[in-house]
Amino acid sequence: MPLSRHSYSFPTRMEYGPGAIADLPKIIKEAGYSKGLLVTDRGIESIGLADKLRKYFSEAGIEISSYSDVVSNPTEQNVIDGTKIYKDNSCEFVVSLGGGSPIDVGKTIKVTAVHDEPLEMLDDTKGGDKYITKKMPPFYAIPTTAGTGSEVGRSSVITVKDTNKKTIIFAPQMMPDIAVLDPEITLSLPAKLTAATGVDAFVHNLEAYIMDVFHPFADGLAKEGIYRSFKFLPIAVEDGNNVEARGEMLMASAMGATAFQKGLGINHSIAHALSVFYNTHHGLANAAVLIEVMKYNITDEKVNAKMAALGDLLGCKNDALAVISKIEEWLKKVGMPTDLKEIGIKKEDINGIEEYAMGDPCRPLNPKPVLKGDVKQIINNLI
Ligand SMILES: [Fe+2]
Repeated sequence: MPLSRHSYSFPTRMEYGPGAIADLPKIIKEAGYSKGLLVTDRGIESIGLADKLRKYFSEAGIEISSYSDVVSNPTEQNVIDGTKIYKDNSCEFVVSLGGGSPIDVGKTIKVTAVHDEPLEMLDDTKGGDKYITKKMPPFYAIPTTAGTGSEVGRSSVITVKDTNKKTIIFAPQMMPDIAVLDPEITLSLPAKLTAATGVDAFVHNLEAYIMDVFHPFADGLAKEGIYRSFKFLPIAVEDGNNVEARGEMLMASAMGATAFQKGLGINHSIAHALSVFYNTHHGLANAAVLIEVMKYNITDEKVNAKMAALGDLLGCKNDALAVISKIEEWLKKVGMPTDLKEIGIKKEDINGIEEYAMGDPCRPLNPKPVLKGDVKQIINNLI
């Protein structure tokens, strides 16, 4: 494996630290820009965070137009509406403030600001990245949650109008120019959301780590991300005002999304299916299936060895099952489900859930080959 050809990319600039958000407008001004589009959602507007950012921009002498109507599973209409405001106001850059949705929409507006192709044509699974060729405006991302890691990612997920499908838009140039990791702006996140998004970050790191791909850089980050989220998520859930734990979770989240350029696996495929069938929160869905998916994955020899090695990081025996039970204990501690009872799976949906998961782009990357009937078995073990 180490003798084969690989291509790695780790270039996101990150501005980390309490209060880092206040410095971004100055950095943008120094780069020579004076008009930008802020992309956010109603929730962020309602807690006054967008106003705070607009004030910093105004103090730096930068004119800001806003698009604040991003919805939680962002749509093509969000991108169209934001792009119109961008063009009408002759903006020169895009800045997103929020969770994964505003960041994904902002990242896509970066593309549509200069590309006229409809999003369906840009669908990455159909080779759409070949149309993303023009020089795009700078994009800055300020995450208000610690989980998706979209602020360091090169893709976005948007529901396209004509197909009603979640569509991946991908291009290396979509990577944000700067990700601002400011723990203070994540303090207001409620405990349940902190837990659900934090588990998503943990699973990104874990699924990336067990992936059978030669990528020692990503492996190093993934292990650090596993360690940090395992240690600091319970603290952030217990005490939302703990700036240190919030900062560590932002780091674990960015590490996870950087590491998962190796790929994600069947845990995410099933979580995606549950979100489609029951509108389940992405992080919660990942938590609910994690234990059973890992028990399934460790029947593969290589995964078993990798999981066992995590004992050192998590403080237990170097044994795959001991590691899994430690993770189960951790999930319970942060108040996350470890089965599907809470979600309430309908028997008649199970075939459809399996079909969706099998068609999900993460499924073929799972380190243990997933056969027909496997997902059904995993789900049956959890209900
Ligand atoms: Fe995820």
